[in-house]
Amino acid sequence: MRATAIAHPNIAFIKYWGNRDPRLRLPLTGSISMNLAALETRTTVEFDADRNADAFILNGRPASGECLTRVSRFLDRVREKAERQLYAQVESVNSYPSGAGIASSAAGFAALALAASRALGLEWDEAQLSRLARLGSGSACRSIPSGFVEWLPGSRDLDSYAVQLAPADHWDLIDLVALVNPEHKAVGSSAGHNLAETSPLNPLRVAGVPARLELCRQAILQRDFDLLARVTEEDYQWMHAVMRTSSPPLLYWTADTEVVIWHVQSWRQQGHALCVTVDAGPNPHVIALAEEREWALTALRALPGVMDVLVSPVGNGAQLVQAN
Ligand code: DP6
Repeated sequence: MRATAIAHPNIAFIKYWGNRDPRLRLPLTGSISMNLAALETRTTVEFDADRNADAFILNGRPASGECLTRVSRFLDRVREKAERQLYAQVESVNSYPSGAGIASSAAGFAALALAASRALGLEWDEAQLSRLARLGSGSACRSIPSGFVEWLPGSRDLDSYAVQLAPADHWDLIDLVALVNPEHKAVGSSAGHNLAETSPLNPLRVAGVPARLELCRQAILQRDFDLLARVTEEDYQWMHAVMRTSSPPLLYWTADTEVVIWHVQSWRQQGHALCVTVDAGPNPHVIALAEEREWALTALRALPGVMDVLVSPVGNGAQLVQAN
């Protein structure tokens, strides 16, 4: 009863921030993202009748405390569905630094949803897997389908899952993650989501999301980079406005984050197809047409404060590597 799966993190153009039901991770709004092929989480789950507790090994180190509890609660949901009462060992390896502003929980829970369900013999379709992954980490539901993906917020567990908008080869985009601070973030997204509703700006952000989702869908389907840049930059600014005006306020950016943002805007004005977005961390993600790759890498690396740049094309969804 063992299975291995891989999944990729994703970067959202239209962000998920705030839940109407935190336990079920039913989001306040829909969101749209693309998967990141170059970054990968590989997870093996083995259920074993001889075990008396779950174990979680992350990047070669046994996890404990909250980290293990989150994985174990997630396995409870899979055990419940499969009607099996077996404990498991979960071994997960990320090909990229955790806590680098790249949601490792998204790829982690997408790979875990697929590996754990298959290890217990459940052959679920994409929507079922996406719903399951969502219970582990909201954005993980978007790492199940391939390519460009939209999370349909739904109103209950059954109708809140992600679907593909376009396959990975639909549009040759890249994400250049400018690492300005590789340290773990002080306030994780789960705690952050709970603060969204303390911001007086939150209702305004939420009210604007449907129009931005529509523009983002259009931009992707028509491969309209100018439109994608406009709507992506508007959306992350709204999310950070909510974060900054929450109580207590959440400030994820550093001065180096601002330097990257400022330069990307000026490079776009000079005619380069680049735009920027920032998640719940300090490291900006620069979204670009693939033809800008070399130019953008050189320009980003030359900025003070940028320690490294990770580059990724658009990626596939979660995939089973092995099951027996
Ligand atoms: C800022 O999915 O990491 O990256 O459900 O608590 O695990 P949990 O939150 P998570 O939140 C992601 C927030 C974001 C925006 C996004 O990816 O849409």
